[in-house]
Amino acid sequence: MSLIDGKASAAQVRARVAQGVAAFREKTGRAPGLAVVLVGEDPASSVYVRSKGKATLEAGMESFTHRLPADTDENTLLALIDQLNGDPRVDGILVQLPLPGHLDADKVIAEIDPAKDVDGFHVINAGRLSVGQDALVPCTPYGCIHLLKQQHGDLSGLHAVVVGRSNIVGKPMAQLLLSENATVTIAHSRTKDLPALVRQADIVVAAVGRAEMVKGDWIKPGATVIDVGINRLDPAPGEDKGRLVGDVAFAEAEPHAGAITPVPGGVGPMTIAMLLRNTLVAAHRREGLADPEGL
Ligand code: GUN
Repeated sequence: MSLIDGKASAAQVRARVAQGVAAFREKTGRAPGLAVVLVGEDPASSVYVRSKGKATLEAGMESFTHRLPADTDENTLLALIDQLNGDPRVDGILVQLPLPGHLDADKVIAEIDPAKDVDGFHVINAGRLSVGQDALVPCTPYGCIHLLKQQHGDLSGLHAVVVGRSNIVGKPMAQLLLSENATVTIAHSRTKDLPALVRQADIVVAAVGRAEMVKGDWIKPGATVIDVGINRLDPAPGEDKGRLVGDVAFAEAEPHAGAITPVPGGVGPMTIAMLLRNTLVAAHRREGLADPEGL
């Protein structure tokens, strides 16, 4: 069994992005810029937004963070997005999700210029991905594909079972696997006999958001397991905070798997790396330059 080291892969991608940023600055005389918008004070979102800003600066890019109060109305948020759409220093726009309940995420995402949609959530980017055109691809599934290609080289003909059908992970993950010539099955909460289906998989991508749902004896011997889940368990007696676990029961699955991502330290670090990559790619396309190589 090999442990897939997402931290190391993410560091490699980030180093390559930093080189690409330096080359972009040489060519254009400016740095790529990423704007991150946070509405409200959700503690987990605040941590993510801070680490995105820090990573952006570390890559040599400009970072613009906009923190708005939880009661911000829709028009104010849409006006900020319009302003960022029109700002030539901004190549990427990310609105941190989830938004407070009174705001409609679909409407907010639709306002983002697709050329700056570094989350890849706009329907234009989702559509481009599904028909095989150049898209900005959602960061987490893109990070998963990167890890899988590193592990396997070629994914042709392998049977991949994606557990979860969200617009953010499951659906784009399936599209990306298909474009790598994998045979893809999308499973979800209504799938009949999920264990039997997962047992057929050469590649399992677990993205359901349920702690340790995928059991060890569901894993075909030698399969590659990519765990997208980040779930916090209730604290055990004497613990201050519960442990972080994935959607896969790691200790059980590890002996069966050929390779597996840990939680934390697997898929998680890849998401920010790919956000930086997408920002660099968006900056190139906006300047009419060819996509940076090797990313
Ligand atoms: N919240 C949790 N993950 C993400 C992500 O990838 N993008 C955005 N915008 N919000 C998130």
